[in-house]
Formats: sequence, C-alpha cells, structure tokens
Amino acid sequence: MQTPSNHVVSSMNPQVTAAGAPEPMLIPTKRNLHFDLNGDRIADWYGGNRHLSHFLNTLSIFFPEGERFFIQSVRQFRQPDMPAELTAAVNAFIAQESLHGREHDAYNKLFFDYFPQARENEQIVTRSLRRMQRRRSASAQLAATMALEHLTAIMADAVLTDARLTDTMEPNYRALWQWHALEETEHKAVAFDVWVHTHGKTLKNYLQRCFGLVTATTIFCAFVTPFFLQALRSDGVITDGKGWLVFARHMVGEIGFLRKLVLPWLAYLRPGFHPWRHNNRSQLTRLDAIAAMYAREKGATA
Ligand SMILES: [Fe+2]
Ligand SMILES: [Fe+2]
Repeated sequence: MQTPSNHVVSSMNPQVTAAGAPEPMLIPTKRNLHFDLNGDRIADWYGGNRHLSHFLNTLSIFFPEGERFFIQSVRQFRQPDMPAELTAAVNAFIAQESLHGREHDAYNKLFFDYFPQARENEQIVTRSLRRMQRRRSASAQLAATMALEHLTAIMADAVLTDARLTDTMEPNYRALWQWHALEETEHKAVAFDVWVHTHGKTLKNYLQRCFGLVTATTIFCAFVTPFFLQALRSDGVITDGKGWLVFARHMVGEIGFLRKLVLPWLAYLRPGFHPWRHNNRSQLTRLDAIAAMYAREKGATA
C-alpha cells in the first residue's frame, strides 16, 4: 500500500491512458482517522444554518449501510485472475469504505440523539439494501454501487472545488466531510474498473450501467427528500424562509452545489466514460494535512 508521501508524488504527475484511467493505476491509501465531533453543534455546524446542517446530516444516514453494501458488491467480484494492482485497489477500497462507515456511525449517533426518527430512517435504508442483496443479481448490485460511487465522486468534486461550500463549516465537521470527499475521489474508479474487468464493454453492459445510474439516483432522492424534511419539521425550521434562502443559495443559486452536478452526472452516460476522464487527482495532495491532524494513532495513515 502506498504511503501518503508516495501518493503526493504520483498525484503530482498523472499519466492518463486513452481510456481515461491513470497509468499506473492509482491505489488508494488507508487512513485510520478519527474526528471528534461536537454533538452540541449537530443541528447548526454548517455555518449556523439548520437547513444545510440537516441536509448533510441526512446524507450521513446513508453512508454506513451504503458503504457496507458497496464493499459486499465489489467483494463478490474479487477474482484470483485479477491484475495484482486491481486487487490492491479493491482491498484499499474496502479498507477506506469500512473506515468511512465507522466515522459516520459515530457522527450518526450524535444525530440520532438529537433526532431519534433518523435512527428509524437508517433502518429503512438498511432493509432496502438487504432486500436488494436478496433479490437482485450480483451484477445489478455492482451496477448500483458503481452508479452511487459516481454520485459520491461528483458530489465530492463539487465540495472540493468551491471553498464557499466548506468555509463556514465547524472545523471538525469540515475535516470529516473533506476527508470523505477526498477518499471518494481517490477510489472513484475502483468499482468501475472491477465492472469493466468482470463484465467487459458490451452494449448490454453499457445499458445496465446507465440504468443503474438512473434508478440509483431516483431511489436515493426519493429517500433523502422526506428524511430531510422530517428533520427540519422536527427542528421547527421547515417554514423558516431565511434558512431556506441560504440553503437555496448553496444548492441551486449563486454557489449551486446541486446545479454543478448536472453535467458530471450526464457524463456517466457517455459510452466511453471513465471516472478519471475528469482528472482531479491534484486535489488529493490535501489529504496529508488532514491525515496529520486527525490520525487515530501515530503511523496509522500508512
Ligand atoms: Fe465512502
Ligand atoms: Fe466510495
């Protein structure tokens, strides 16, 4: 596994193949970090705005179970004949996602204490994912994982490229979200590369990949919206016009987080798509500073 300093050197000199993949393949790094979040700030950690805070708190509900689902989906296709570097990337992907799950579990406990309905909402997500694992093929599960990895990667890129989205966050919450966004960037191609290796590039597989994105996005939005509105209602701010104005500025207005996702979302539908065709590896140099500050124990980032 790469050390953080090796990683910086490679990310400063990206070589990209015609297919858009980095050459040599980028192997993610496991970083055992811990973010001591202040539960007293759970409802207003994002610039003092409850709408923005609860929007991200709601997204956090999905991560631990979602990431366990991703790990299972990719693990099912880890094969002995895989190239060694793809196997190493898969193993690092599993390590990163399990640590994301651990830190978001700790985060979510703070949210559950504040808003107990969120725990039931997480259980709804868990049951839906388990049902999918029972009823859908391994390929459909990997297609959903690949699609949701694309969604998280484009959300991460939007967060990382506009400081106005993170400047007002409470520092420890900001560090957790930036760490997660950076590692989602670092491993954004792993599920995709496993898909290409195990399924090849046929018209049927292309259509299944596109169908996976459309259905995963639709289902994700159908869950997030009511959960988010429940949190605002419970907090007594659902009719707070000023709060909604700040939220709208960040999401669709001047800053426009959601607006920035439209074109990258559509890029996935191109037949020649590869996650690294959008080469944002230079962002990864920021990981070392976060790792140095939040490492759980000395040497834990190697
Ligand atoms: Fe993750
Ligand atoms: Fe991920």
